[in-house]
Amino acid sequence: MKDEVTTRESRVDALGGMGCKRKRVEDARFTQGKGNYVDDIKLKGMLFGDFVRSPYAHARIKSIDTSAALALDGVIAVLTAEDLRPLGLHWMPTLAGDKQMVLADGKVLFQGQEVAYVVAKDRYIAADAVELVEVDYEELPVIVDPFEALKSDVVLREDLVAEDGSLPDGAHGPRKHHNHIFTWEVGEKEATTQVLDSAEVVAEETVYYHRTHPCPLETCGCVASMDKVNGKLTLWGTFQAPHAIRTVVSLISGIEEHNIRVISPDIGGGFGNKVGAYPGYVCSVVASIVTGVPVKWIEDRMENLMTTAFARDYWMTGKISATKEGKITGLQCHVTADHGGFDACADPTKFPAGFMNICTGSYDIPTAYLAVDGVYTNKAPGGVSYRCSFRVTEAVYFIERMIEVLAIELNMDAAELRRINFIRKDQFPYKAALGWEYDSGDYHTAWDKAMKAVDYDGLRAEQAQRVEDFKAGKTRKLMGIGLTHFTEIVGAGPVKNCDILGLGMFDSCEIRIHPTGSAIARLGTISQGQGHATTFAQILATEIGLPADSITIEEGDTDTAPYGLGTYGSRSTPVAGAATALAGRKIRAKAQMIAAYLLEVHDDDVEFDVDRFVVKGAPEKFKTMKEIAFAAYNQAIPGIEPGLEAVSYYDPPNMTYPFGAYVCVMDIDVDTGEVDIRRFYALDDCGTRINPMIIEGQVHGGLTEALAVALGQEIAYDEMGNVKTGTLMDFFLPTAWEVPNYETDHTVTPSPHHPIGAKGVGESPHVGGVPCFSNAVNDAFRAFGLRHTHMPHDHWRIWKTANELGLHG
Ligand code: CDP
Repeated sequence: MKDEVTTRESRVDALGGMGCKRKRVEDARFTQGKGNYVDDIKLKGMLFGDFVRSPYAHARIKSIDTSAALALDGVIAVLTAEDLRPLGLHWMPTLAGDKQMVLADGKVLFQGQEVAYVVAKDRYIAADAVELVEVDYEELPVIVDPFEALKSDVVLREDLVAEDGSLPDGAHGPRKHHNHIFTWEVGEKEATTQVLDSAEVVAEETVYYHRTHPCPLETCGCVASMDKVNGKLTLWGTFQAPHAIRTVVSLISGIEEHNIRVISPDIGGGFGNKVGAYPGYVCSVVASIVTGVPVKWIEDRMENLMTTAFARDYWMTGKISATKEGKITGLQCHVTADHGGFDACADPTKFPAGFMNICTGSYDIPTAYLAVDGVYTNKAPGGVSYRCSFRVTEAVYFIERMIEVLAIELNMDAAELRRINFIRKDQFPYKAALGWEYDSGDYHTAWDKAMKAVDYDGLRAEQAQRVEDFKAGKTRKLMGIGLTHFTEIVGAGPVKNCDILGLGMFDSCEIRIHPTGSAIARLGTISQGQGHATTFAQILATEIGLPADSITIEEGDTDTAPYGLGTYGSRSTPVAGAATALAGRKIRAKAQMIAAYLLEVHDDDVEFDVDRFVVKGAPEKFKTMKEIAFAAYNQAIPGIEPGLEAVSYYDPPNMTYPFGAYVCVMDIDVDTGEVDIRRFYALDDCGTRINPMIIEGQVHGGLTEALAVALGQEIAYDEMGNVKTGTLMDFFLPTAWEVPNYETDHTVTPSPHHPIGAKGVGESPHVGGVPCFSNAVNDAFRAFGLRHTHMPHDHWRIWKTANELGLHG
């Protein structure tokens, strides 16, 4: 075959492999309205499901009258818990080892809980019928405060109290109270107490990370289609983990797993919201099995915000100790975790509070202790990692606030305090006091680069002048400098540590090379906007020497993709990305044998060079990967099977630990509470960079969601358990108006154990961004005596802080 491209450099360029700013291949269909989302799926005879939901946060259900709804023309069925009970489907298991009502079984525990499921010919009839279902509720006392819940006589989960009044153990051990879920402890309790008691300086603070919601642009939904003739169930849905959903559906429905096909089509954002299983999926499957026709269920925005998986809601009380010079000696943290009516947190089984034990952050803290108490309240269940790896954002927010509070206690500069406590480069791999082994890092280099880039000393001088001007009445605006150095922990597994419902958290890639030298690779992950079709092809292009443009990446169909645990917590690159590289290397190993045979030399006498194998010492003798692919299918090569395929299931030996140094500069108007973000500098280190342009997009998106959470986004309840922020009128989604120009930067510290040295990046900007915005707000008021004020820092709360500090005269 002809080799048209000759120079090595041009051959590298032609591949479009790792490191290049390849344009997103997905965007052609997204920008032309050709995406295929679950609500685009229209099947013949398809019915629509809609929920009757509880207006009360805590109530007993005395009766449900469905007759008027059933009498409406076009209504096919109305399901209640009584209909699901004989099938054993009125409750379902949660990812956290608890169980959750599919349809209200005698009582409701949060506003918006699913009470009945109406199936009708179209969604409008279904919505009308929902209004006709009459439910007789008896209101019960409502508890929305987790501290109150642990003192209250009111039993929320009557199903978890034995007849004699005793409390059976939960999935994570003994329970202290009928509204208590678990206690999780990590670290050295007594040693930490001793260090804190004898320390020169101790800072204490309670930091509330408020309840919020991932709020993907596309809400949750599914289409269930039971083919009764062939016994096959197909389920399309907005699933971040399609294989796990297939296994769960098989376990709870009894349908054999090979007869279930789960398809995640295009997904309009997930951010953790689409990891778990919702009653809508179960009811749609049951309705399709009963009616024999497809049934679609699509949430509206209010349903999504009020009832599907929330994020955060952690009360974190900490103590941090140091020498007078600022060397940190110990850290203690207690978390009261509000999990709502059911414990449906999406965390690996052994980690009931996720990876909260990364809360020692980027610092060399010799002694630490963490305890978490999970609590039931009358709020929606969930507890997902909204754009972060299993509660890492809570952990980073906690430590980055504690560092700031300690800096105040020491009367020290917060940047310098961080600097003298960073884990040093020569300490990696670093075993943290709470158990994790950080694989790699170079925090000082990143920090110094960030401080230089923003002229940190200059900023502090400007801030000091601003304080003087404010005191002299020359300005009403304060200046805040937010600092954050974060360490993420992404890429769950390893299987020995991490499983979900007993399924080990590996991931996979299967590659088939076609005779003409193009390829398809299928993965166990699923993109929700991260651009996997673009970047995974780049990994392969570099590994197997075929152009990225000749490689199709396919995800999300359990009938074709190898088993994998899905996409969340930035695990795609650390786990499936590694599987992709290793599957590529298997292809290359076979290609080497084929090349050697074709070139009539020993296997060891050829070497890989960009897109070909060349004879060592004779570069004019080579076979391109295209030629090798063709030979694999048309030449009978002794001792080698025809074809060129490979599969890899990758169980990572460790997580990867991306990190970053962020600086936010903002002006705050003390009279209106308005903030003006003048500058946001974000330095990220995600190891080897596959596609710098996609990384930049991930950073911009993550920072924008961080801005949202820090400056206004919240799911708020009144004392009756009513959701006060159930629409986008009240729930803050930032627009171009609020979003600043981000300055991005990077260092590269490859992961030593990942085959291509890559770490995840999707969550980093959110994890680092939230504390950085929050620290900027807090820092603006430091000169006026503020230690800490809770998020979200909306205009009202900022105004209130200024008022409490006496800044309004
Ligand atoms: O699991 P998820 O896809 O959400 O997160 P990720 O693994 O951090 O990847 C997000 C996107 O950034 C993917 O398209 C990755 O391939 C890309 N990425 C990259 O180009 N280089 C890295 N070192 C890490 C991620």
